[in-house]
Amino acid sequence: EKGGYEHYMRKEIHEQPSALRQTLAGRLDVDGGDVDLDVSFPPGFLADLEEIRIVACGTSYYAGRYAAQLFEELAGVRATVEIASEYEFGAGRTPDRTLVVAVTQSGETADTLGAIRRANAAGARTFAVTNTLGSTVTREVDGTAFIRAGPEIGVAATKTFASQVATLAMLAVAVGRDRGALSAADARSVLKDLQGLPGAVQQVLDEENQVREAAREYQDSEAFFFVGRALGVPVALEGALKLKEISYDHAEGFAAGELKHGPLALVTPDTPVLAVLTEGARADETMNNVTEAQTRGAPALGCVSAGEEYDTLDVSFDVPDVGIVEPLAANVYLQLFAYHVANEKGRAIDKPRNLAKSVTVE
Ligand code: M6R
Repeated sequence: EKGGYEHYMRKEIHEQPSALRQTLAGRLDVDGGDVDLDVSFPPGFLADLEEIRIVACGTSYYAGRYAAQLFEELAGVRATVEIASEYEFGAGRTPDRTLVVAVTQSGETADTLGAIRRANAAGARTFAVTNTLGSTVTREVDGTAFIRAGPEIGVAATKTFASQVATLAMLAVAVGRDRGALSAADARSVLKDLQGLPGAVQQVLDEENQVREAAREYQDSEAFFFVGRALGVPVALEGALKLKEISYDHAEGFAAGELKHGPLALVTPDTPVLAVLTEGARADETMNNVTEAQTRGAPALGCVSAGEEYDTLDVSFDVPDVGIVEPLAANVYLQLFAYHVANEKGRAIDKPRNLAKSVTVE
């Protein structure tokens, strides 16, 4: 059932190109510059929309952080993301001009369901992005988009993160087109990026040996820091979460600009820094921060847009050119890195200690 793979996690990492093809299948109208997600909103709702508020936990929260930036850029609407367990409707907002979007792979996460119930109670319109047909969340929201990634068995979310972001990107295009905030030409360019994503992810997967080598070289480090800017931030946070949950090593993700505001005190020659240096992630500025860490002796590994080069990096992973979803392709390197560090250490990768696939308590 693991299809020849030693762990579900590695199988699911490798399933990403096909999972993404499923996510996108029949939904992209590239020529027309639009998407068909089969979702509908009351007339005028999107035009009058004041704010999109995403609620989610863990990896899904990071997918939400990626998506919020896309909603602002593509749909021209204020978008915020909250950790579901912290979410309150709050003051100064208009319920009937607010869309609360739950991002949840399982559709059963108690914290996320709690947030949706608070949003419903406040009178907001609610929406779910989930992998699971018939899940509880789908019964509690006004509309749903399925990510269609297929079942995910490993506790560590991998292919569902990519499919969540891809689905949310399509939703951002749909909302942007409906609101007149996104031109057909700009939509087309985003849809082309999305169309190129499965192939780009495959190219990253083909580089697995390079990642395995890097994992072997750095696996015994004291701690690992992940940095990025803009769309690179959620990917850095997700990279750190993946590594800590399956390897049990100390890993933290930061906005690269924050390194110098505190975390730099932790940086030593024994703390590699992994950086997202792609399009959409303000690579040159991020690299300046990476250099600050290198000056303190830290090794630096970077996921770099194909064709670009930062020759001071100790390890450089090539990320194919896929525009706005390039950081998502970079994330696949970080998934493989986490996997191989954990595998070298013989960890229980599919069932890390203390964790459950679906967290049904608040
Ligand atoms: O099912 P959900 O997406 O609501 O789960 C939320 C988190 O528990 C989940 O993303 C968790 O952080 C991942 N399994 C970590 O890899």
